[in-house]
Amino acid sequence: MPTATSEKLNPDINSLLRPHISKLRPYVPGKPITEVKRELGLPDDFAIDKLASNENVLGPAPAAVEAIKNAAARIWLYPDDTCYDLKNALADFWELMPENFIIGNGSDEIIHFLMLALLDAEDEIISAQPSFVQYESAAKMAGCTCKLVPLTEDGRHDLPAMKEQISERTKMIFIANPNNPTGTVVCKQEFDEFIKSIPPHILVVLDQAYYEYVELEDSPEGIDYVRDGYNVILLHTFSKAYALAGLRVGYGLADAGLIKALQQVRGPFNVNALSQAAAIASLGDAEQLTRTREMNAAGKKYFYAQLDEMGIPYMPTEANFIFLDSGLPAKEVFQELLRHGVIVRTGDPFGLPTWLRVTIGTPAMNERFIKALRIIVERA
Ligand SMILES: Cc1ncc(COP(=O)(O)O)c(C=O)c1O
Repeated sequence: MPTATSEKLNPDINSLLRPHISKLRPYVPGKPITEVKRELGLPDDFAIDKLASNENVLGPAPAAVEAIKNAAARIWLYPDDTCYDLKNALADFWELMPENFIIGNGSDEIIHFLMLALLDAEDEIISAQPSFVQYESAAKMAGCTCKLVPLTEDGRHDLPAMKEQISERTKMIFIANPNNPTGTVVCKQEFDEFIKSIPPHILVVLDQAYYEYVELEDSPEGIDYVRDGYNVILLHTFSKAYALAGLRVGYGLADAGLIKALQQVRGPFNVNALSQAAAIASLGDAEQLTRTREMNAAGKKYFYAQLDEMGIPYMPTEANFIFLDSGLPAKEVFQELLRHGVIVRTGDPFGLPTWLRVTIGTPAMNERFIKALRIIVERA
């Protein structure tokens, strides 16, 4: 059996690591389909539905696939480091200037840029619990503290409680709107009051990864706050509604001064040529987005009706996933669901060991999940 070379050469690597790095726990992504097949010994042609990472199961816009094919012949060249065309496309789309955008290898990378550019050791950020785990882990990676503020009973950001946590070391407050894993949003009035009342030097990071799915009229429009000059950055991604998760492309949208500061920590050529081409093409395909929204809205209704019928509590969602309480140990439900060919996420990393987060899929995928859940719940 071959051994990894590092095991032979340096068994004491931890003594080299910076202490705050050795304490980090690696991010655990949604289980890939290939891994499930390997683990369960399933044949290649066994259909598995991955409803674990909030990808858009409709797939990318046809124009994006075409753009990737066209760009493929030129990948011997380094990509455009400035993302000139993509920034211009985004500027047209949002009616802003290219200088208002920074492009990242996923919006995850922008989160790291923020930490790297703005945080000194012992600075603090504030986030919610449960929320997107990368805010906390990126802050810890930077050697800083993340204060976690529990959500309200109905799973929404508790903005007054978050405000109370502000100290003289607070640099940023992260709000995922809609929130992951709950799918909930803050309402416009409460966000208004919040942003107007916090010290103006604190940067509000409004993560709008699931923005395209929001149906509620009363959710704050992040762009208005950028236009009005608040200290806010919006995070957007092409991984979700635009269905380009495999390409890794996201962006930050903010005042040009902040964007310029973030550019200081961006590595060269951080966004590959295929991603830039596909993102531009996706932005131009409004129809694919409409189909995506319609499928999601119908899927939501289906989930609500079925879960109500089964008496399973859930959080009404403004995103493309639903957070529900199976009432059973979620890790066991997860394993059972795998045997039914469905991959979901469990709530235990969020301290909610009976909850599941399930991506809303095609009608067939949703039915397959509900049928499997029904069998598991009824048998328990
Ligand atoms: C709230 C939230 N923000 C950001 C991201 C990261 O997205 P990206 O694929 O652009 O890195 C995710 C991904 O799941 C997310 O849920």
